[in-house]
Amino acid sequence: MNVVIEDGCISCGVCADTCPDVFEMGDSGMAEVIGDVTEKNAVAAREAAEGCPVSVIRLEE
Ligand code: F3S
Repeated sequence: MNVVIEDGCISCGVCADTCPDVFEMGDSGMAEVIGDVTEKNAVAAREAAEGCPVSVIRLEE
């Protein structure tokens, strides 16, 4: 599964807290994708996407 963070992250940190395997807060203060979505973290990655308050995380099958 591919993960994209579209423009508009407000640096809330929910994604990095929810799924640190895949998301990290970068030096810019905005979230970055740091890893692949795997079977092990797919549920957390989906929760992170659903929990993003501005809905900028897109998971592509
Ligand atoms: Fe940004 Fe959404 Fe993550 S606002 S920090 S991409 S939960």
